[in-house]
Amino acid sequence: MESINKEGKKQQVRSMFNSIAPRYDFLNHFLSAGIDYSWRKTAIKILKKNNPEIILDVATGTGDLAIEAMKLNPKKIIGVDIAEDMVTIGQKKVKNKKLDKIIDLQVGDSEDLHFEDNYFDAAMVAFGVRNFENLEKGLTEMNRVLKKGAMILVLEFSKPKKSPVKQVYNFYFKNILPGLGKMISGDSSAYTYLPESVGKFPAGEEFLKILQKTGFSQTKQKPLTFGVATIYTGQKI
Ligand SMILES: C[S@@+](CC[C@H](N)C(=O)[O-])C[C@H]1O[C@@H](n2cnc3c(N)ncnc32)[C@H](O)[C@@H]1O
Repeated sequence: MESINKEGKKQQVRSMFNSIAPRYDFLNHFLSAGIDYSWRKTAIKILKKNNPEIILDVATGTGDLAIEAMKLNPKKIIGVDIAEDMVTIGQKKVKNKKLDKIIDLQVGDSEDLHFEDNYFDAAMVAFGVRNFENLEKGLTEMNRVLKKGAMILVLEFSKPKKSPVKQVYNFYFKNILPGLGKMISGDSSAYTYLPESVGKFPAGEEFLKILQKTGFSQTKQKPLTFGVATIYTGQKI
C-alpha cells in the first residue's frame, strides 16, 4: 500500500479488498486460527443489552458481523461496504442462509452514508475503521445516522503491550503473516498493509478520545485475547 500512494487511500483499499474478496473469508479464519469468530460473538453479546432493532454494519465486507447480529433478533440489518466484490460474496452468503429478508448488504461509503439522521438503534464496525481514509469523518457519519443514546461498537485490531505476547505477536504479524497472506491470496500488498495499518491506528485511549470528539459519551474499551483486538463502545450524545 505504501508503494501505491498515487491513488487516494479509499481507492487503494477498495481495489485491495476487491482483489482478495474470493479468498477473504478463508484467509480471515485461517490466519487468525478462528479467533475472529469469537471476537464477533463477544461484540454482538455487548450489543444485546440495548435490544437494537435496526442495525447498521459499516465496512460489512462479506457480512460476517451482520450475520452474527441475527442473534439479536433485529427487524433490519443494513451493511455497507465500498468494495463491490466483498458485498457480492456477502449477499450470496446471506441468501444461502435465507437471511435476506432481514440483512441487506449494499455498496456504500461509510464516510458518506446515504441514510437519514437518527435512524439506527446501533451502529457497528469490525476491522473497518482502520481502513477509513478519514477516520473522524466516518465516525461522525455513524454518529449522525444513530438515534440519540444509541450505541456504536467498534471491533479493531490493537497491539498487545505485555511480554511475551507482544514479541510473539510482532514476529507473527511482521514475519509470518505477510508471507502466508501473499501465498494464499496472491496479493502482495494486502498482508503487508495489515500490520502497517494496525501500527498506524490510534488504538486504546487515543481512539476513545476520537470517539468523544465525534459525538459519543460513555466511551469504553475491552481488550480481547491479550490485547490483539479491542472492542470500543460509546453512546450517541
Ligand atoms: C478487514 S474488512 C472487514 C470486513 C468485515 N467487517 C469483517 O468483520 O470481516 C474491511 C472492510 O472495510 C471496507 N472499507 C474500507 N473503507 C471503507 C469505507 N470508507 N466505506 C465502506 N467500507 C469500507 C473494505 O472494503 C473491507 O471490505
